[in-house]
This record gives sequence, structure tokens and C-alpha cells, in this order.
Amino acid sequence: MEVNVSGKAAPDTLDLDLEALRGQFPILQTQVNGKPLVYLDNAATTQKPNLVIETLVRFYSEQNANIHRGIHYLSAQATDAYEKARERVARFINAPHSRQIIFVRGTTEGINLVAQSYGRGHFKENDEIILTIHEHHSNIVPWQLVCEQTGARIKVIPMDDRGVLDMEVFEKLLNERTRLVAVSHVSNALGTINPVSDIISKAHAREVPVLVDGAQWVPHFPVDVQALDCDFYVFSGHKMYAPTGIGILYGKENLLSDMPPYHGGGDMIRSVTFEKTTYRDIPERFEAGTPNIVGVIGLAAAIDFLESVGPEKIAANEKELLDYATNTLESVESLRIIGDSPEKAGVVSFMLGDIHPHDIGTFLDNDGIAIRAGHHCAQPLMKRLGVSGTARASFGIYNTHEEVDKLAAGLRKITTFFAQ
Ligand code: ALA
Repeated sequence: MEVNVSGKAAPDTLDLDLEALRGQFPILQTQVNGKPLVYLDNAATTQKPNLVIETLVRFYSEQNANIHRGIHYLSAQATDAYEKARERVARFINAPHSRQIIFVRGTTEGINLVAQSYGRGHFKENDEIILTIHEHHSNIVPWQLVCEQTGARIKVIPMDDRGVLDMEVFEKLLNERTRLVAVSHVSNALGTINPVSDIISKAHAREVPVLVDGAQWVPHFPVDVQALDCDFYVFSGHKMYAPTGIGILYGKENLLSDMPPYHGGGDMIRSVTFEKTTYRDIPERFEAGTPNIVGVIGLAAAIDFLESVGPEKIAANEKELLDYATNTLESVESLRIIGDSPEKAGVVSFMLGDIHPHDIGTFLDNDGIAIRAGHHCAQPLMKRLGVSGTARASFGIYNTHEEVDKLAAGLRKITTFFAQ
């Protein structure tokens, strides 16, 4: 089956053995308030399969040492595993070379790195950076910081009431002052899939580089950074079944090679004197200090896991589950889904009458159902929607129709309770 980079997947091969797959996630056996856990907060973080958990235990039991430093057996083993993981990530996103893969703490650090290392050197007074109304705070605040430092300004692509970006406005915003476009591939709060290929080609026509925040895309769809032709692509391990504290910044080689270090310290230098320090090439230049070695190795295991299931199959299955959830939740009285873009990933944001989203979250938790409630670190988007927050169910590889039914039943109970 074919899945294109816009995320369209024909739901024709739903041959996932969900029971066997769920069996690989020990935490899914948890009981919450005497009920089986229904974990629907995957956009916040995903649960970890045995393959990842066992890899972490094996690393600490058999391989643990610092990398790039020791000449002893364990250090060589750890270094080898760490560098093989870099190659694994490069193949996973089809990067031309593993040196274009920079290990960072997560999407947030990746964006801060580009804002400070690229932005500070390239932006000046009255330059413009284009963001979208969908952005998570992690793709807003780093640009505000660099704007304060350089005098550049932020411009924002608006959306319609379905959550679809207004591309006509985008084309008008692009001008000779534009220095960078930074856009989420998928909105964490609404699930809208943004037309990043189109944004990239329009920006490139004006020689403007584009950073794509792929945090909510990579766990759900195949990614090919060369086909996208993005200049930077960032994502987090913990949202794709890997440990927390590890993420990836991919960049085009000519851009990364010209960027100064972001952090200084060990492992990123060629030579140090008190008078002058020289730096290593990419990727080491951006990896000062002891990195999250076990996180990197765990991330490679998570990629092995995702590829063993098949990114196309995951995309098709989650699309089918999203359609089922949308239909099921629409039948819940006084439930209003927020964001109904025709291109959507497995996120359903909703309001239930005038019940506060935090109350919805707390009531559902009594039934063992985990969702997120609040502004989803996207306050400008909430302001545009005229709400202080929403309730959000977000799906992962292991979610089932039965869990969606439990969510709907839980919501009906809440409506009944508040109607009394
Ligand atoms: N960005 C994460 C979310 O959307 C934390 O929940």
C-alpha cells in the first residue's frame, strides 16, 4: 500500500495483530482505579515496547561506558552502538548522510539550536520569520528569543475554522524580508496535517529555508526528508515509543556545516587553549558533553520496532481508528469536535457542552481513561479558537475500537452527571 508524504493512506491493509502488539507494551496491563488503563494521551508521550525497555536494561547491564573517549572495550562498544544508532536514524528518515543527524534532548532543543545557531547569525532588524497559528510553544518561544536578540519579527499564517492553513495569506506573507519559515508537520492540538511540501516549495522559490517540526508526524507516518526537501526537520524520541530526553535535529549539510556551536564543552572541540578553541565538524560540533547515550540506543530500538510493524501499516490503522473515533464521538450528545481538517492525524480535540476540559479529564481518569486537557502548549491557537483549552484524545499504535467505545461511554456518563 502506498502512503504519500501528505499522510493519505488507503485503509486497505488493516492486518495488524493488535492483541499481539499490545502484548509488547507491559504498561498496558496497568489497572487504574480498578479499571484497565485506556491510554489516549499519545501526543503527549507514547508507551514503550519491550524491545526498547530490554535494550535499555541490556545497555546498562552489559555495555555501559562513556563514548568517544575511552580506549577500553566497553567504551568502544558503547561508541559503536551510539554511532550505529545515528546511521539507523539517517536511514529511517532517508537523510543523505548520518553526519546530518544531530542528537538533541527533543524537538524543543532542536528548534532552540536552530534559532540560536542559525537564526542569530542570519536574522537582523526587520527581518521576518513565518510561523503558523498551529504552533506549539516550542516552535514560537525560541523564535521570540532570537527576535529579541536580532530585531527580527514574527509573522503568522492564519487558519480557517476547520483548522486548515490559509495558503493565500502565506504567499502574501512571503517577501524579501522573510528569512525562515518554521511549521509543524502535524498540529499537536488539532491533528491538522499541514501542507508542508507546498510550504517548502513556495518558500524555496524565494530561497527561504524551512524548518519542519515533525514531533507529531514521525510516530504516525513514514518520513523522507529528501523527498520533502526541508532544510531542518526536528522530532522527539518519546513520542515514537523511545525514551524521553532524546530527539533529532536533521539539517541540510551546507546549512549545518556553516552554523556555529550552540553549546560548548567536551567532545565538540578540535583543540582548546585559553586564547582560542577550534571546533569539530558536524555532528560532534553540536553534541557538547556526555550525551544521552542510552536514549540514543533506545531510539534506535524504537525505530526497529516501528519498522517491524511497518510505518505504512501504522498510518493506515491509525487513519481507520481516527475515522471510527470521529464518528463515535460525534454521536455523543453535546460533544463538539474542534478541528476537522480533511487532512488529519490521530488526534481528536473536543468540548463537551460547557464542561471544563479539566473536569472531563478528571472524570475520565476515574474510569482509567487517560486524555490530555488544557491548552496543549498552544495558547495562541486556543485564543484563535476562542477557548481556554480543549479535551484531547490522541491515538497510538496500540489503541483499539473498544477503547474508543469506552471513551464515548465515559463521556456520556459525564454528560449525564452534569445534567443532574
Ligand atoms: N507536546 C505534547 C502534547 O501535545 C506535550 O501533549
